[in-house]
Amino acid sequence: MTSREIRERFLKFFEKRGHAIVPSASLVPENDPSVLFTTAGMQPLVPYLLGAPHPKGKRLVNVQKCVRTGDIEEIGDNTHATFFEMLGNWSLGDPASPDGIGGASYFKEDAIKWSYEFLTSKEEGLGLDPKRLYVTVFEGDDPSTPLSLRTGPSTTLRTGAPRDNESAEIWKSLGVPAHRIYYLPATKNWWSPGDNGPCGPDSEMFYDLTEKGLGDMTHEEYLAADERQDVVEIWNDVFMEYEKKDGKVIGKLSQKNVDTGAGLERLAMVLQKKNNVFDTDLFNSIIQYIKEYSKEYKEQSVRIIADHIRTSVFLVADGVFPSNKEQGYILRRLIRRAAIRAQQIGLTPSHLNAIALMYGEQYKDIYPAVFNATGDENQIIIELRKFQKTLIEGLKKFEKGTDPFILATTYGFPIELTEELAREKGIVIDREKFDQEMKMHQNLSRRGAGEKFKGGLADTSEKTVMLHTCTHLMLAGLRKYLGGHVHQAGSNITVERTRFDFTHNEKVPREILDKVEAYVNEAIMKGCAVTIEQMPKADAQARGVEGSFWEKYPDVVNVYMVKAADGTTYSQELCGGPHVENTGVIKGAFKITKEEASSAGVRRIKAVLE
Ligand code: ALA
Repeated sequence: MTSREIRERFLKFFEKRGHAIVPSASLVPENDPSVLFTTAGMQPLVPYLLGAPHPKGKRLVNVQKCVRTGDIEEIGDNTHATFFEMLGNWSLGDPASPDGIGGASYFKEDAIKWSYEFLTSKEEGLGLDPKRLYVTVFEGDDPSTPLSLRTGPSTTLRTGAPRDNESAEIWKSLGVPAHRIYYLPATKNWWSPGDNGPCGPDSEMFYDLTEKGLGDMTHEEYLAADERQDVVEIWNDVFMEYEKKDGKVIGKLSQKNVDTGAGLERLAMVLQKKNNVFDTDLFNSIIQYIKEYSKEYKEQSVRIIADHIRTSVFLVADGVFPSNKEQGYILRRLIRRAAIRAQQIGLTPSHLNAIALMYGEQYKDIYPAVFNATGDENQIIIELRKFQKTLIEGLKKFEKGTDPFILATTYGFPIELTEELAREKGIVIDREKFDQEMKMHQNLSRRGAGEKFKGGLADTSEKTVMLHTCTHLMLAGLRKYLGGHVHQAGSNITVERTRFDFTHNEKVPREILDKVEAYVNEAIMKGCAVTIEQMPKADAQARGVEGSFWEKYPDVVNVYMVKAADGTTYSQELCGGPHVENTGVIKGAFKITKEEASSAGVRRIKAVLE
């Protein structure tokens, strides 16, 4: 059964049972700043779960686009995807039970019965094998539930809700054997969208993926099978009649709701008899394409690329564009992570763009916006191109040293990517230090931008002044790492770059250049004051002030000092100016782009502010 057929059957099944079909809401929540993305079908429906009247009534069915990036590290395993479609049927406190079962309202009885019927019915549903189905229910943690029956650790959420024998009885009435119904604690079988909002106990359905079939399992055997992903969750019925506030369950809602969720990807996986979502028709052609064009085969990378580009396409379709904050940052991370993985297996930005286009085609008639988002010059290819410039250099840089600040500010590596790459090499990144450095960097560039720039762009003279100050810092760095024989032998600064000649008679290794760059960037980041001190030439020489052509200067000289608030002197050099007043206004990261011979005993460097 194709994924298209699953969607259609689902909507039809519930429509026939009195549910109004509602379209998927945007991935970007409209009135909820507490979350970046829609992570579950219930999210856009929260007001109605709390009692507001929904225009389509009290019984709904939908297929909701969801993005969960909390699981981003798990992408590459068999069952997780950052984007997925969640099939859901809803009772918004519907007081009428259409089949007249389970008393007055559409609650546990109808929900469980329909889940089971849809999963197993060959005619109207998916025709799954009931013998491969396992069910979990909430074990209870209220005072009436004996301690001996509570398996949850004592630190978990205390719901104060009773053991859900009711659901277990309903399952049994449908023919599910009692020993295939497992009672689990709130950590597993209590669903809430976060610390606040509607919530409740849930009953989850798992399907056996093994070839032979697992048969009957004890509680422990079942938990182990879940751990191995021999069984996977394919459906969740949440009985939303409680409310959570600031992380605590505070009591019951005024209405009893049903919130169900079944992942389309996972249903496709079990129906198409695959053991992972990437082998289903939702990913199949893309995976084939990646395998065909990549130079090296790495399962994990292939899956990450397929997953992240799909999610990116859907985010762009819902109006997100790559940026440095919130939704845009997540999108940027996804695209850049895919780009790094692609680079590692020999795929280019054009290949990734081709993948985006394939997704556009694939989802065209279900989500037309996805097709529209993958046209020429789409956000994804623009971002890929932007990143490609620094990606290769950044990866080389990473091989030599893993300073996450430089990788982030100069090469555009999101910190999470550097952390991930570092982890693969067994290196731990000091995240706290990085966060502090970034904060300082951002504050300074914001202050600098506010004070110095109109419209964020420096004018010509401002840019050359910045590069001039950087050139001083660079010379000090060169002297620090190469030795006191290094002096200026010539300098030329344009808006684009500084060109700097200095006395040294052999090639400067890249590691040293990296250190010099870091030295300059450190001074920029610290926001050092740049001051002029006038002093007799002899005093300046005695203090170790740097200068060439001393003979050209008058008896009293101007010494430009670059000094941080913590007392570190980054540079003291004879000069006539002009310089920035504070290195904090220097915009961009300092980068040495070239080092070559200039003439005998003289080297030449070109450097830029990026
Ligand atoms: N809200 C439930 C979930 O996301 C159905 O699993």
